[in-house]
Amino acid sequence: LLASFARQVLRGLKVVVSAGPTYEDIDPVRFIGNRSSGRMGFAVAEAAAQAGAEVSLIAGPVSLPTPAGVAHRVDVRSAAQMQAAVLEAVGQAQIYIGAAAVGDYRPASVAEQKLKKQDGDGLTLKLTQNPDILVDLSAQTVRPFLVGFAAETHDVAAYAQDKLQRKGLDMIAANLVGGGLGFEAADNALSLYWPGGSIELPRAGKSELARQLIAHVAERYRAARP
Ligand code: CTP
Ligand code: CA
Repeated sequence: LLASFARQVLRGLKVVVSAGPTYEDIDPVRFIGNRSSGRMGFAVAEAAAQAGAEVSLIAGPVSLPTPAGVAHRVDVRSAAQMQAAVLEAVGQAQIYIGAAAVGDYRPASVAEQKLKKQDGDGLTLKLTQNPDILVDLSAQTVRPFLVGFAAETHDVAAYAQDKLQRKGLDMIAANLVGGGLGFEAADNALSLYWPGGSIELPRAGKSELARQLIAHVAERYRAARP
């Protein structure tokens, strides 16, 4: 592992990393978000920079400083904004790592004024599906090496392998969320899957895991695109 970083395995490559949650506005004061802290994605961006890559970090709403060595950072809020920023950045890049917890749905319309409470039988919000950034990238004829994440509460392996296939990814990093791991936690554990292989990265701090992930991404990238 140390050797991969000493050898600067990603030198000369441009890597785009998305990180954090997305917020989908309901009205000027309310939104739908999720519990992603952005820490895993930021650690991945830092590790890619340490391996010599020119890193663009597309960040959802997080309160984290830009990691050392990261060349470009774009802050976004919604899934649509994240997709636009990612598409802009990946034009030049060889590798995209989608560590963001992108909202699957957004309110069908955003109220211009604060919604007022009404007495009665609750409130129903109509939601529209967001575009899938990875699926759209995967459909491009010239596409970067694509790495996805899958945060699951159960059946991690089955869901992750299904996402690898269905989204046409080159690698997926899967983790179980909950029990002090994953979202909002300092530690994580990842299972990596690629077409024809897999490896377990046991529980560790997010920086350590990110370095291990980057070493495997570099290895698979070189194998896939010699
Ligand atoms: N992803 C994306 N665009 C979306 C949703 C997800 O690019 N609109 C990416 C994430 O960044 C992650 C991967 O897809 O790398 C898997 O995200 P996940 O939420 O686990 O997959 P979904 O296909 O949305 O499935 P579900 O939420 O039902 O588990
Ligand atoms: Ca999702």
